[in-house]
Amino acid sequence: MARPLALLPFYAGRRVLITGGYGFIGSNLARSLIDLGAEVTLIDNLVPEYGGNPRNLAGIVSRCRIRRGDLRDRAGLPRLVRGQHFLFNLAGQTSHMDSMSDPETDLEINGRAQLSILEACRLHNPSIRVVFASTRQIYGKPDSLPVDETHPLRPVDVNGINKLAGESFHLLYSRVHGTQATALRLTNTIGPRMRIRDARQTFVGVWIRQLLEGRPFEVWGGEQLRDFTYIDDAVAAFLQAGANPAAVGRVFNLGGGPPVTLRALADLLVEVNGGGRYVVRSFPADRKPIDIGDYYADYRRIARCLGWRPRIGLREALTLTLAYYRRELRHYV
Ligand SMILES: NC(=O)c1ccc[n+]([C@@H]2O[C@H](COP(=O)([O-])OP(=O)(O)OC[C@H]3O[C@@H](n4cnc5c(N)ncnc54)[C@H](O)[C@@H]3O)[C@@H](O)[C@H]2O)c1
Repeated sequence: MARPLALLPFYAGRRVLITGGYGFIGSNLARSLIDLGAEVTLIDNLVPEYGGNPRNLAGIVSRCRIRRGDLRDRAGLPRLVRGQHFLFNLAGQTSHMDSMSDPETDLEINGRAQLSILEACRLHNPSIRVVFASTRQIYGKPDSLPVDETHPLRPVDVNGINKLAGESFHLLYSRVHGTQATALRLTNTIGPRMRIRDARQTFVGVWIRQLLEGRPFEVWGGEQLRDFTYIDDAVAAFLQAGANPAAVGRVFNLGGGPPVTLRALADLLVEVNGGGRYVVRSFPADRKPIDIGDYYADYRRIARCLGWRPRIGLREALTLTLAYYRRELRHYV
């Protein structure tokens, strides 16, 4: 990622804590912050079903402090947050299906642990600057498109409910207790270091795996519209949100280029790969009740307030992502 030089003064020499730092977005964010001269501490529990992967920190292990630990362990949190200037709070359980089959774990991580880390901040570091990774999932099935931040919040699965609780805790603590929090509602984010072993993080991950292994991948439905943010753009949004006081106490959608149908995405992926095959299947019955249908974000609020907009188009995003996994496949399957 190009070094966002304008952000150097904000992060150089500053102490930054990233939760979920072995994960897809956390590890990419860590790389940028290290490049910007920040003193980065990461915490992650590296549960195998989640997106954390030791390979994600290749080349930066000696340039940050790494804590293998679980945010559900409340006793460890005060030490973690004390003395930090920034907290990028990205640890989460991300699978919608897992949140339905094991709702309590999702609640523990996306709900209770978020409250615990905010409590640790209130008691031990009240003026810390926090950026929380929220999700478009909290909107549920859109009433109209594109979806802006005033759209009703009606999550369709346990994960969406718990992420909404997590976001709400952040905003409440910002309003009442002075922890300065911003929530970014992410849409589908793709790029190097995402989980491709299965579809737990994103269906695009498993598509890429199967494509590179020479197997046909499955497109369910195919006519659903989606938008995609490339990882470098998502990282830029976190950095800009953390650096700008105008973002405190606010929520922002992230978005991507023009929305595409899943079938168009599959065609583009095959084209960019220079070959491959997919099959279209009807949407599995167990997923249908928690499907949100079409979604794409209106991200004009963050564009207006922070000057953020996505810069990498979908074709380039897929090209860069495929190139990474062609080199790194064995570390991710
Ligand atoms: N990737 C996306 O498209 C997307 C979309 C919307 C929202 N988000 C949000 O962004 C955040 C980061 O997502 P990601 O895609 O990088 O996922 P990820 O699974 O790659 O990263 C999350 C990390 O958190 C760690 N973690 C989970 N529970 C933990 C705990 N109790 N203690 C310590 N570490 C724990 C995992 O091991 C993992 O490394 C998540 O909160 C997710 O809800 C992501």
